[in-house]
Amino acid sequence: MAQRETWASRVGFILAAVGSAVGLGNIWRFPYMTAEYGGAAFLVVYLIAAFGIGLPAMLAEFAIGRKAKKNVINAFEGIGYPAWQIIGLLGLVTGFWILSYYSVVGGWVIQYVIGTVQGAYFGNPEAYFGSISTGTSTIVFHAVFMALTVGIVALGVEDGIEAATKLMVPSILVILAGLAVWGSTLPGAMEGFEYFLNPNFDALMSNLDTIIPFAVGQAFFSLSLGMGVMITYASYLGKDDNLGMDGSLIVILNTSVGVLAGLVVFPLLYAQGVDPGSAGAGAVFISMATAFAELPGGTVIGLIFFLVVLVAALSSAISLLEVVVSYAVDNYAIGRLPATAALGLVIFLLGLPSAMSLDTFGLYDTVANSLLLPLGVTLIVTFVGWVFAGGAIEELRQGTDGLGSLGPAWLWHVRTVVLVAVVGTLALSFMEFL
Ligand code: PHE
Repeated sequence: MAQRETWASRVGFILAAVGSAVGLGNIWRFPYMTAEYGGAAFLVVYLIAAFGIGLPAMLAEFAIGRKAKKNVINAFEGIGYPAWQIIGLLGLVTGFWILSYYSVVGGWVIQYVIGTVQGAYFGNPEAYFGSISTGTSTIVFHAVFMALTVGIVALGVEDGIEAATKLMVPSILVILAGLAVWGSTLPGAMEGFEYFLNPNFDALMSNLDTIIPFAVGQAFFSLSLGMGVMITYASYLGKDDNLGMDGSLIVILNTSVGVLAGLVVFPLLYAQGVDPGSAGAGAVFISMATAFAELPGGTVIGLIFFLVVLVAALSSAISLLEVVVSYAVDNYAIGRLPATAALGLVIFLLGLPSAMSLDTFGLYDTVANSLLLPLGVTLIVTFVGWVFAGGAIEELRQGTDGLGSLGPAWLWHVRTVVLVAVVGTLALSFMEFL
């Protein structure tokens, strides 16, 4: 078998992981979930979930991946627990599932890039979303987005993913920050900040049972947890990396981008007099388009904005595809290029129903975030907390000067708080779903 690929540098790994985390989840889904589930109240629960549950769970995935140096399925066998491969299988299924509709949204973004250049939505942003979000053009651009994703992944870990994300991630951060500064100068910006940043604790307490499952699900989706992306990416790492530091940095950067996106979107919404709660999946697209159509300099700023969203979406999509490609090239006598192309085609076909109906699309998204990802995280933290346990601490210790009591503290946190929180989320999600 050919030698397994690795990252060229630690920064390369961190940027690739941030590239996976930062995506449509931050810029499209996070503001729309925040708007739907109570503004700043949602933000509070989301932040607790990202750092209190997401970060420890991410370290659990890192420990499995780097210890095994294998794809998401063989990793469990590699560290001596073949029965737990079921987690990997769930991860592969979830990867197929999420990428199928993620790519549909990626296609929307491409149509917004084009629409901005042509001024196509300037007259009626709402009708434009209606015309591009389902139907023939949606299918065409879903295909284009998948083709771009396949192209990058086919180039490989170092020349494809690492090279691409190294350029993409810094440009996302810089441009979003610039847009946030611009947004803060608009009339209505203060109201937007108020809505996004000033929690109403009464509303929070009385809606906890809906806020929690959506905020936790959003944290997993946004951090790319629960389906093996972080297992796969950590499998290309060397032993001298400090996983705890890398994980913390990744969570901080990802959260910053989500918050930055909120700082761009909410002031713009209020500047346009749009009620953020009224919007749905098209919210960010319609409202941003409305803003760009009306504000001075909107064409240029709109183009920059949608290009950044496209780049962020691509760097996440490649991680979803890499999980399945990694499994295929590790196990079958198939080259990276044909494996990537064939899997890309299957995922494209799986996405067709979502490209034809927004209801189906919404169902795919809910199943992924409310069921598949929380289930994946539950299994991963059960395995790492109660089965792999000491081995995981040992793996996290590599590349540090010693963890002291941090190792056991992390393990007990995973075993108890994280596990209870995820199982609770799953139960609430089920109730929400029924
Ligand atoms: N984290 C990505 C985003 O926020 C989506 C994603 C989910 C990527 C799960 C990989 C795995 O857009």
